[in-house]
Amino acid sequence: MKLRRWIVVGAVALATVGTLNSLPASAGGQPRPADQSLRALGMRHDLYIGTAVDMAALNDPADPQYRQLVGSQFSSVTAENVMKWESLEPTRGTYNWGPADQLIAYAKQNNQRVRGHVLVWHNQLPGWLTTGVADGSIDTAELRDILRNHITTVVKHFKGKIWQWDVVNEAVSDPWDNPPALHYKGFWAQHLGPGYVADAFRWARAADPNALLFYNDYNIEAFGSGNPADDKTQFVYDMVKRLRATGVPIDGVGSQGHLGTQYGNYDTLQVADALERFGDLGLATAFTEVDVRSQMTPGVQAGDSNEINPRLQASAANYSVLLQACLLSRHCLSFTVWGFTDRHSWIPGWFDNPPEGLATLYDENYQPKRAYQTVKADLIFAGAPHVLPRIPQKPRR
Ligand code: G3I
Repeated sequence: MKLRRWIVVGAVALATVGTLNSLPASAGGQPRPADQSLRALGMRHDLYIGTAVDMAALNDPADPQYRQLVGSQFSSVTAENVMKWESLEPTRGTYNWGPADQLIAYAKQNNQRVRGHVLVWHNQLPGWLTTGVADGSIDTAELRDILRNHITTVVKHFKGKIWQWDVVNEAVSDPWDNPPALHYKGFWAQHLGPGYVADAFRWARAADPNALLFYNDYNIEAFGSGNPADDKTQFVYDMVKRLRATGVPIDGVGSQGHLGTQYGNYDTLQVADALERFGDLGLATAFTEVDVRSQMTPGVQAGDSNEINPRLQASAANYSVLLQACLLSRHCLSFTVWGFTDRHSWIPGWFDNPPEGLATLYDENYQPKRAYQTVKADLIFAGAPHVLPRIPQKPRR
């Protein structure tokens, strides 16, 4: 009797092992973590994983993988260029909504959220505007009206379709600018004074009460000296604290996250501390434009793995620092990369002396790089008790 029972148990066990071995990886309807997309893995933390989208690449029938990966890997999209002023209003009074509307439709189809980028920035302004100001045909009062009108028109056009707006982008100088003491820089501060920042948020809120309104900048991943004259994070912190204290409807701070492996790098807890300090002001945070570039030395360009491997590893480590910090801070709502493939990245076109590159998650042939696997592993391994789902942010009235 005993022996018979063991024979039966043994037979069942053997049959079970046999079945398990022949089961596909997705047994029980759940693909193995490593086979899941970034967007699926992010959702366990309520974290949206986003990418900037190059509309020419999205629409290129010869490059189908680009479109396929935007839809499958990401739960949030940002227009890399087509929502900028020069694209939306190339001729005064004539708006070209086509490409931006196309991105919104694509996002809807793919169940993605949209970060609106960007309402007020000193770059990629239309020629009619900068020329008009330069030749005096547009005076200060008119310029302020033009800005209010632009924000109102654009935010109303996309009303209800944008999750987070980058309302003001890169308003603060860097220590290498002249004068070196940090200050409000660029076209808008020069012509309207720093008050334009508060105005822009008020105008945006009036046009869409439900979108989250962000200030967005680079080099604000971690605090430095604590002196706002040379610590950009401190300068931005003081600025948004003042804005909150005076009732300006700002909901979040976007940290762009453009890093380079050749620089001194931050550690995770330093970055998490900065996110928490912004969070303590009642603000949401987000990484909005992450990429980690490297110098393309002659060795790298010749394919020398001794030179390439450390760069790929350092790039992955920096992605991980930003993502882990974001996971740890429950106010950090999204993690967006500024392009996901080296085939379409702004880096080589921008940094060409010395040349830089290798900044994204996939190589030029859409092969996932170490950075991709590391980001994925971070999303897999994070969890309670220290990593908990995001705290939803309500727009400030
Ligand atoms: O549209 C013209 C096209 O007609 C022309 O043939 C071509 C020739 O070079 O240029 C095209 O314009 C380029 C535009 O991207 C659209 O592709 C500009 O030259 C080029 O300078 C512009 O670069 C963009 C850059 O912002 C401009 O400031 C990058 O693609 C874009 O990734 C980058 O994004 C910014 C964020 O908005 C803000 N934070 C920094 C980030 C990186 O600079």
